[in-house]
Amino acid sequence: MCQLRRSLPVTILSARIPMLRSVGLLLAWAILISAAFGRNPDPKEGLKVFSIKGCARCHTVMGEGGNIGPNLSRIPSAGDGLDFAAAMWSHGPQMWQRMSTEQVQLPKFEGEEMEDLFAFLTMASSLDESGNNEAGRLVFQTKRCMDCHAIQGKGGKVGPDLARVAGNRNPVAWVAAMWNHAPGMFGAMKEKGVPFPRFQGSEMADLQAYIRLMAGPSADRVYYRYVRPPSSDEGEALFRIKHCVQCHSIGGYGGRVGPDLSRAALPRKYGAIALVMWNHAPEMQRMMAVLSIALPQFEAQELADLLAYLSSLSMKREGDAGAGARTFAVKGCSGCHSTTGGSTSIGPNLTGLQGNLTPINIARAMWNHGPAMLQRMEKSAIAWPVFNSKELSDTLAFLKSIQAASWQSSPAKAAASAP
Ligand code: HEC
Ligand code: HEC
Ligand code: HEC
Ligand code: HEC
Repeated sequence: MCQLRRSLPVTILSARIPMLRSVGLLLAWAILISAAFGRNPDPKEGLKVFSIKGCARCHTVMGEGGNIGPNLSRIPSAGDGLDFAAAMWSHGPQMWQRMSTEQVQLPKFEGEEMEDLFAFLTMASSLDESGNNEAGRLVFQTKRCMDCHAIQGKGGKVGPDLARVAGNRNPVAWVAAMWNHAPGMFGAMKEKGVPFPRFQGSEMADLQAYIRLMAGPSADRVYYRYVRPPSSDEGEALFRIKHCVQCHSIGGYGGRVGPDLSRAALPRKYGAIALVMWNHAPEMQRMMAVLSIALPQFEAQELADLLAYLSSLSMKREGDAGAGARTFAVKGCSGCHSTTGGSTSIGPNLTGLQGNLTPINIARAMWNHGPAMLQRMEKSAIAWPVFNSKELSDTLAFLKSIQAASWQSSPAKAAASAP
């Protein structure tokens, strides 16, 4: 190797250095990101957990399952895993009671089961949003799609007849189709003086419902454009392959032209993130032209993977430990748990929690200990503390912060006092 290098002409050597350096940077970036965030959860495994743990006996997801509990694709609160963790926790006592009357074993979670389960539920709740076709008709008019597009032959002839894409059943697939054709569409819009159409709330779902209705039964033959559940692992790779990383950073690594997407306040559902992307498309595509970055094209599956990745980042965001300390006291946790290393009688000293304390690991520990905790609380006539996802993530950050301190000062002591 040294021999070879010495014999290379100086010009080639120096020409290679910048390339080597950028490959090195990319590698370092990939390693840092995976070290900071660990494994990506797997929704396919989550589907198994959902049936093995008996959730499917009482809950419907994506049209299948029991109806004793609410339909988990439809609950309004749930977007990401922390929402699900908070909702499950808050409804824990009623659920455990129902489980014992239905003779379902109380489910405990091990390893990555809970993480995968939440990845699955998040995915399920972001697919197949149903729109209102009457509202969609108005969207089709007011956004002036009808100036250029026909549906089954009726309407404008500047762009393609939208009956042929009516089988796309979710906003992600629609945004992929529009994004891929955006340059042609933007050109035509400029010519006809049509303003760029931004989408809010359910407008895209409504529009789809209308187009599907007008396209008639032929549209329904094409089903989901996803062939498998979106994968945030694939999405992480696509974030580089599709050049997003050249303008956007994640956790501080990457380009600075656009906002850091691990800190952006993105919506929870994939379809809604897709719309945010679409709404920023003109500015993004303008910047891409300026920087000579080729406009990425997307299969619906690819865009879904990418959005799964962006959505997973909010799960990895740390809560505020200071706010968590207050929540811990306000919810009455400090009545039974010591967090300073001393021992109080009832619950275990939580500075002794062991292992890698990701939020999901702590949420899992809390859930597994929930029924025993409930018993104690009933005895002491303390009301069950309910959490929203912000309170939960702050509390988890607080529990993590007290663990780190005790492991650093005295691992032996921490291990000795562990429950
Ligand atoms: C024996 C039936 C039963 C089983 C099994 C069951 N649940 Fe539930 N679940 C319920 C009921 C009933 C409620 C509503 C409780 C209430 O009204 O507070 C509920 C509520 C929930 C909620 C809150 C929904 C909301 O409206 O915010 C979540 C999340 C949830 N369950 C997840 C799960 C998961 C995950 C599993 C599997 C580990 C599971 N459930 C197993 C009956 C069940
Ligand atoms: C000013 C004319 C114009 C307007 C207004 C317009 N489009 Fe288009 N649209 C086009 C053109 C032209 C194309 C084809 C572009 C190309 O292929 O390069 C296109 C392509 C598309 C495609 C891709 C179709 C395919 O075959 O994959 C979709 C989806 C689409 N438009 C949806 C919409 C929607 C929804 C609206 C309203 C919000 C809209 N368009 C408004 C001109 C327009
Ligand atoms: C050429 C630079 C560039 C590239 C490449 C690029 N973006 Fe952007 N992106 C921007 C800029 C600039 C903005 C802010 C635009 C605005 O303010 O309208 C933005 C905004 C966004 C937003 C909205 C963020 C928020 O805070 O609301 C999302 C989501 C997004 N980009 C995703 C992506 C994805 C996914 C990719 C890869 C397919 C990508 N971007 C590629 C420059 C880029
Ligand atoms: C009435 C007393 C009581 C209250 C209040 C209480 N806990 Fe607990 N907690 C316990 C007991 C007892 C256990 C051990 C349960 C077991 O062994 O399964 C426990 C276990 C735990 C564990 C698991 C510890 C481990 O070693 O894995 C966590 C985490 C936890 N509690 C967090 C909390 C939080 C957060 C709150 C506030 C919402 C809270 N607890 C409120 C009594 C309580």
